[in-house]
Amino acid sequence: MSGSRFLRRSEVHANSPLPTVSELNLILLGPPGAGKGTQAERLQEDFDLDYIATGDILRKAVADGTELGQKAKEYMDNGDLVPDEVIIGVILEEVATQAQDGFLLDGFPRSVGQAEALEEALARLDRHLTTVLCIEAPDDEIIRRLSGRRQCVKAGHVYNIHTDPPKRDGVCDQDGSRLVQRDDDREETVRKRLAVYHRQTSPLVRFYEERDLLRRFDGTRSPTEVHDHIRATIATLRLEDEL
Ligand code: AP5
Repeated sequence: MSGSRFLRRSEVHANSPLPTVSELNLILLGPPGAGKGTQAERLQEDFDLDYIATGDILRKAVADGTELGQKAKEYMDNGDLVPDEVIIGVILEEVATQAQDGFLLDGFPRSVGQAEALEEALARLDRHLTTVLCIEAPDDEIIRRLSGRRQCVKAGHVYNIHTDPPKRDGVCDQDGSRLVQRDDDREETVRKRLAVYHRQTSPLVRFYEERDLLRRFDGTRSPTEVHDHIRATIATLRLEDEL
């Protein structure tokens, strides 16, 4: 367990001498392939947060053939956003019920409408965002990366055949399951997802800058360098919070 780990609210109660330790409520923002999922895996280990990844939730719903999956599939296959009225209720329910001790949101919000809905929901729960971690990378780097991404079928562990290959071809190092390429990682769909990001999601950079919540990270650095920078930023925020 990391020494700088934030305490869950339940642990704060159990260890009552600690006076004010805030819950950690984080958003990962950035274009497809910037490295949000890669960093999320590391941050979960650091801070033991409830991880809510909209893409994973939607892909599971599609695979399970649920009503949500049926509504989402066509949009996802085209590289479009699933409409706000389909996704907002699902994710806010997760935040309210599953992530009461702090959360790491990956892939939500993705539109100003979603960001406003989250802001209102958190205000109603008397909770607030700690920070928005915005990982940036140029389009050409993203297209190169996503052509090489592979994910395991069991837990979604992420690899890259060009830059971060598994030890055995096509097999996850962590759980031995099969590695596959996502349907929406075809170049044509990646280009569409990038256009959608620039049009519908990138306005959130300004939205969160105006609230002084945005922190930027250079996603072209190595995964370890990006992770170190994020950890240092969170540690600084925590110190400020304790002052
Ligand atoms: P989602 O699954 O959220 O996809 P995304 O945001 O497009 O993000 P990715 O998972 O593609 O990229 P990532 O940033 O996590 O990169 P990763 O770490 O894997 O969404 C999919 C679809 O669902 C959407 O298109 C939409 O249809 C729908 N959807 C989801 N949320 C929605 C919402 N809120 N509203 C409406 N619709 C929604 O890394 C990528 C690759 O790069 C990997 O191979 C990795 O090994 C490598 N890599 C990572 N970091 C580095 C680094 N620093 N240097 C070199 N390589 C790196």
